[in-house]
Amino acid sequence: MLPLIVGNWKMNTDLCQGDALVLKLRELLKGADSAEVVIAPPFTSIHHLYHLLADSPIKLAGQNIHWEKNGAYTGEISGEMLASVGCKYVIIGHSERRQYFGETDETVNKKVFAAMRHSLKPIVCVGESLQEREGQKTLKKIKTQVTQALAGLGSAVKDLTIAYEPVWAIGTGKTASPQQAEEVHNSIRELLFELFDAESAREVRIIYGGSVKADNIDELMAEPNIDGALVGGASLKAEDFARIVKFQPR
Ligand code: PGA
Repeated sequence: MLPLIVGNWKMNTDLCQGDALVLKLRELLKGADSAEVVIAPPFTSIHHLYHLLADSPIKLAGQNIHWEKNGAYTGEISGEMLASVGCKYVIIGHSERRQYFGETDETVNKKVFAAMRHSLKPIVCVGESLQEREGQKTLKKIKTQVTQALAGLGSAVKDLTIAYEPVWAIGTGKTASPQQAEEVHNSIRELLFELFDAESAREVRIIYGGSVKADNIDELMAEPNIDGALVGGASLKAEDFARIVKFQPR
């Protein structure tokens, strides 16, 4: 499977800044075909950037989705809306959404189904807190999150990506070591084989997120179960993100 590199812009960039970033990226990534590249700009920029990316392989993702099709949910965005502005992917259950906006494994599961109904490929985020890591509870936490987020999916799981993002590594400059990440990725892969048929379980991409930078991507991508990266801060600098996309495993 082709590795997946996702840039999560979070609540950054207005229309002009997004425009400039995408134009640079398009240039820098010309001919780069060793990874599938996705960016998740703020909702307000997606439609505009879709047109800028018309002749580019870079795809678009939403940063969130509501589970209902439409209705009285002020401030929310539906799968139909994301699909209509050109999104192919959607990030679900990012730790910032869980921490600040009350998302739970149950809402994550509902959102996964909503995404699939609109042919949006879910990127489901899981990860342990520092306290959980220090208490040796990492693998148990990840198992619960993955099992509940993916409940009821069946072979549709093959279109899904899991992003392992230790909460203590997000935006902190502290990245998990390649060995720490690999241990969790490997346990997720084993769990997928327990939960789903082998063919589907094999197709799921498991990507790493949490302070991924141009200078640590190569060692992360050398691990056998790391299938890509979810990049926050470093995706806002075109040169850095392009270097991450052009990783050289070592
Ligand atoms: P970071 O964010 O790369 O800035 O740590 C990653 C993420 O939150 O997806």
